[in-house]
Amino acid sequence: MTAPTAAPPILEVRDLVVEFRHDHGHFAAVDGLSYQLHAGRTLGIVGESGSGKSVTNLAVMGLLPRPPARIPRGSIRFHDTELTTASEATLRKIRGNRIAMIFQDPMTSLNPYLKIGRQLSEVVELHQKLDKRRARDAAVHMLERVGIPSAAERIDQYPHQFSGGMRQRVMIAMMLLNRPEVLIADEPTTALDVTIQAQILDLLRDLQAELGMAVTLITHDLGVVAGMADHVIVMYAGRVMEQGLATEVFHNPSHPYTLGLLQSIPRADQKVERLYTIPGRPPEIDRKPPGCPFEPRCRFARDACRAAPPPVSQLSTSHAVACIALDEVAADAQRGALLARVASEVAASARAPSGQPANPPTDRQGGGA
Ligand SMILES: Nc1ncnc2c1ncn2[C@@H]1O[C@H](COP(=O)(O)OP(=O)(O)OP(=O)(O)O)[C@@H](O)[C@H]1O
Ligand code: SF4
Ligand SMILES: [Mg+2]
Repeated sequence: MTAPTAAPPILEVRDLVVEFRHDHGHFAAVDGLSYQLHAGRTLGIVGESGSGKSVTNLAVMGLLPRPPARIPRGSIRFHDTELTTASEATLRKIRGNRIAMIFQDPMTSLNPYLKIGRQLSEVVELHQKLDKRRARDAAVHMLERVGIPSAAERIDQYPHQFSGGMRQRVMIAMMLLNRPEVLIADEPTTALDVTIQAQILDLLRDLQAELGMAVTLITHDLGVVAGMADHVIVMYAGRVMEQGLATEVFHNPSHPYTLGLLQSIPRADQKVERLYTIPGRPPEIDRKPPGCPFEPRCRFARDACRAAPPPVSQLSTSHAVACIALDEVAADAQRGALLARVASEVAASARAPSGQPANPPTDRQGGGA
């Protein structure tokens, strides 16, 4: 983690709205999202399935299918370039080169019919104009860096000859070869078992420190961002429910949905099959309630929640919450018990295997990571 910075953000998303066309009109999958991303910082975007996490980042990558998607409002600025209106040629220069994305399934990015050496070398040859020999050397070096044993030999193997965790490392190597300024990791560890998951997150953290990248880490599991993120956005049904420094969201969670996600974090002393899940399901984008989208699942709900979307309250310059029941949530006894458990588990997950604190939460203020 770097010291507080007054440097301008690398990436700034402002009041972003992304809609999809359905039979009976356009509906928002992302509705009024704003954040800033700074070099060397990590933003965690957390929410259940369908909350708009991937759509947000596909918009940043210029990969939304338009139509059916459209961006009726908002801005995504990468340095001085407005990405929502950038040409395909401009986006192609930025994508995979200055902003890279790794996905849950490495096979989204890897071609099963090509040796990985060829796939990695092509990335470098394309963006850095290196000759074949030097591109291969760069690829071997990066494979070694991400922990592939015998990289010089394994570079001539096909993706299916690697285990799931090793394939994820290969994909990370491929995405980092051009030393991107921003790395978007969309559920990078969801398909992996817990031990491999921890190794991949450690690897991302080390590479970030080494390369100074800004990272957006997307996940449905708040536990995954606990030891990684400086800033956290909790999304539900396309809207920001709570947003703040990681310290604020973990130590003073103030939205009922954030409490539900915290309660769902696997406990070290609990079997996986007994994991808590928030009762009910998120709404489809064309069936959102007119008021607070979380209302049908919220134990704090009252009539006013059904009338109109709740206003956003600023609890600090960096901590914002969209809920009208802040006092009741703060006084809730269940929340008190949850905070005690979260404090110890977050402290544990914020420690690297070496025992050194990794990414300790900072007191930095500001609207983003
Ligand atoms: N191509 C599309 N056409 C229509 N609707 C879409 C399309 N892509 C996404 N959506 C809708 O946008 C909403 C947000 O989807 P998104 O993929 O961003 O969710 P997510 O938070 O990434 O979920 P998950 O955890 O399942 O990956 C969903 O309701 C989804 O149905
Ligand atoms: S605004 Fe109402 S329904 Fe929404 S989270 Fe707050 S209390 Fe629950
Ligand atoms: Mg997704």
